Amino acid sequence: MNKVNIGIIGAGMVADLHMDGIQKHKRINVLWFADPNKKALTTKLKKYSVPNGTADYRDILRDSKVDAVIICSPPFTHFEMAKAAMRAGKHILLEKPMVLNRPQVNGLLKEAQKHRKLVVCECSCRNTRLQPKFRFIKKMIDNGDIGRVYHIHHNQLMRRTFIEYNPAGAWAMQKKLAAGGPFVDWGVYDLSFHLGLLGDKPKLKKISAFTKNGLKIFRNPKQKSDIEEHGAAYMQFDTGLTYYYERGAGVHAEIPNETRIYGTKGSLRFAYCSWNSPEIEHFWVDKNRREKRTIRKVDMSKHPGDDAALYKHFLDCLAGKAKPLMPVSLAAKHLDILFKILGK
Ligand SMILES: NC(=O)c1ccc[n+]([C@@H]2O[C@H](COP(=O)([O-])OP(=O)(O)OC[C@H]3O[C@@H](n4cnc5c(N)ncnc54)[C@H](O)[C@@H]3O)[C@@H](O)[C@H]2O)c1
Repeated sequence: MNKVNIGIIGAGMVADLHMDGIQKHKRINVLWFADPNKKALTTKLKKYSVPNGTADYRDILRDSKVDAVIICSPPFTHFEMAKAAMRAGKHILLEKPMVLNRPQVNGLLKEAQKHRKLVVCECSCRNTRLQPKFRFIKKMIDNGDIGRVYHIHHNQLMRRTFIEYNPAGAWAMQKKLAAGGPFVDWGVYDLSFHLGLLGDKPKLKKISAFTKNGLKIFRNPKQKSDIEEHGAAYMQFDTGLTYYYERGAGVHAEIPNETRIYGTKGSLRFAYCSWNSPEIEHFWVDKNRREKRTIRKVDMSKHPGDDAALYKHFLDCLAGKAKPLMPVSLAAKHLDILFKILGK
């Protein structure tokens, strides 16, 4: 396959993660960066020796040499950009959350239907389905090691909010620009991992949830935020699966990322991110009915990193060797659940 020419829209924090992933593959040429923020743009052009820069992403869409665009500007820009990129015949790797609201989800689904030959992959397969822990745990479940999965329990609470992680990310503190707080920032990954383990089969039947904001005491008293900071949902699915899901950023507590998957013959406990412990705790019962607890260690040594894995997957999709692990339709299903948690 020839080199793939790409343009990157958005020269902020996550663009560096993309460049980390891109630089691990010799088959990608970065031709453009687009960003209306002049300083952000010139910094990235210089840092990565990228030949073309623009404040207007549509210049990238007009360049016939460009095969694909990476949309990694804030969520409030994604819908128009993704639509325009599809209409310009460009393949897309689209940052999460895909879009802001249901009308935009429906609009993007419709647009994607019209451009079935284009590869459009949303990024929440990063950190989740493209790493060894996901494959290891899915294999255990598919092998029947814990019997039939009937309940998932997942929680993570942090005192920190997005703005302390990325000081340039003031947009992330406003619902109308970001769609929500930790439930969209992290929820897209959580659902990608957990529902993916079950082959994406369960369909949501019933949900009850709470969300709360106004908890975070910011060091800067002028900092505005209207996103949820803490919330939890109890969900029931058509397969009989139940799922208790709690997330928070800006909560007065620290609870590490932990997933428990309960099956009729055993259970698993782990932290799913590639940077968390590689250990999976497995509770099971042996042939002699003795209760066992085994620590299984996932071999992460061959994992190239989440972003390099994302670009390998995108290249495979462009070469026709794979189908996007997070197509618009599946990202839409996850956003539908998250919007319900947020009461949208
Ligand atoms: N920061 C991370 O570690 C991280 C990780 C995974 C995903 N993401 C996702 O990536 C996206 C961007 O996050 P970020 O942290 O890089 O934000 P950021 O604020 O650091 O960077 C966004 C950049 O996009 C630019 N931008 C705004 N409007 C634009 C437009 N019309 N055209 C081109 N560029 C435009 C901004 O000027 C800014 O430089 C979000 O959807 C976020 O959820 C971020």
